[in-house]
Amino acid sequence: MKFVVTAGPTREYLDPVRFLSNPSTGKMGFAVARAAAMRGHEVALVAGPVTLKTPKGVRRIDVTSAREMLAAVERELSRQAPGAVFVSTAAVADWRPAKCAARKLKKGQMSDTLKLVRNPDILKTVARRAKHQAPARASTVFVGFAAETNDVIAEARRKCREKNLDMIVANDVTEKGSGFGVDTNRVTFVRKDGSVERLPLMTKLAVARRIVRECEDLRP
Ligand code: C5P
Repeated sequence: MKFVVTAGPTREYLDPVRFLSNPSTGKMGFAVARAAAMRGHEVALVAGPVTLKTPKGVRRIDVTSAREMLAAVERELSRQAPGAVFVSTAAVADWRPAKCAARKLKKGQMSDTLKLVRNPDILKTVARRAKHQAPARASTVFVGFAAETNDVIAEARRKCREKNLDMIVANDVTEKGSGFGVDTNRVTFVRKDGSVERLPLMTKLAVARRIVRECEDLRP
């Protein structure tokens, strides 16, 4: 099968030396890419700015901003044969500065407020588009992540429905051993059919293996 995986944060620049971002390290997404390649799948990994090594057998496309990530994902998905899998682990910045200055802003040129505009929701955009395509193309499997601090399952269900996904991998980032930067994760699979499966605390690679198996089963 063909996998397209996003990983890491995005950066949204306001001038050449300043940006908005988040602490994502890309570990979960790189683990998914690695696990998929280990199962013999063809993998395109669209990565935000991270310092991780590319897993063996994975084709990597580096991007910086959410808009670049969306363009790369669209290009990769359109190149794939029908029946691909898109796993969206990236911590995409929801907002970007309305303007990016060509030169470094001097302190005196900056105001105390920064005007922001919404970034595209990459996963929602490509999942919605697929639904309106020919049946073969519509068979793409879409898996999202949801990092939550409260109402984890209810939020995951809502996102699964709203973004038209096959499954959400939900985690409570306030739990020990979960979330940004660590090598372990405790996740819950929330499927389109409403079923919920809570997994124990595992390494990110073990979680990734389970996700890849689940995608194999989800494939129509
Ligand atoms: O941020 P949120 O909780 O909505 O993220 C849920 C899913 O949507 C994640 O899989 C994330 O990668 C994806 N997402 C995206 N583009 C955004 C925001 C989130 O693809 N702008």
